[in-house]
Amino acid sequence: MLRILFVCLGNICRSPAAEIIFNAYLKSTGASDFAEADSAGTINYHEGSQPDIRMLRALEQRGYTYGGHRSRQVTQSDFFNFDLLVPMDEKNQHDLLALATKYNGKATIIPMCHFARQSTNTHVPDPYYGTQDDFNEVITLLEDCCEGLLLSLRKGAL
Ligand code: 4NP
Repeated sequence: MLRILFVCLGNICRSPAAEIIFNAYLKSTGASDFAEADSAGTINYHEGSQPDIRMLRALEQRGYTYGGHRSRQVTQSDFFNFDLLVPMDEKNQHDLLALATKYNGKATIIPMCHFARQSTNTHVPDPYYGTQDDFNEVITLLEDCCEGLLLSLRKGAL
C-alpha cells in the first residue's frame, strides 16, 4: 500500500481537493488496495476547518463527494508514515524540504505538476484570493496530475 500525502499551504483548497480527486480515481479504477491519499497544510491557521466552500462547490459540480476531511498541519510523523509527499507549489516544496531535513524524514517529495500530462503548469496556483473560475481551473489541473500520478503508480514507477 503506497501512502500519499498531498500538501498545500492552508489545507483547505488545493490539497484536500487533490485528496478527494485521487481517492475517487483509486476507487473507480479498483486501485484502492494499492494506494491511499490524505492531505495536510504547512500552516496551522485553518486547523480543524472544512475545505473552502468554493472548492467544495466546484468539486460537487464535477461529481466528487466530500468525505469529511478537516484541515491539519503537516507533522513529523507524516515524514515516516507516508511514502510520498506531493507539494502543490514551490513554497510548499521548499517548506517540506526544510522540515524533511529537520526531522530526517524518509518520505519521497515530488511536486504535483511533475505528474501533469496535458498541462504545462509548473505548480498548482493558489486560488484562495481568486474567483470561482480559479477554483474550477485548479480542479482541471488536479485531475490531469492525478491521472498522471495513477499512471505512474500502475507502471510501478513509484
Ligand atoms: P490552500 O489555499 O493552500 O490551497 O489551502 C490557501 C488557504 C488559506 C490561505 C492561503 C491559501 N491563507 O492565507 O489563509
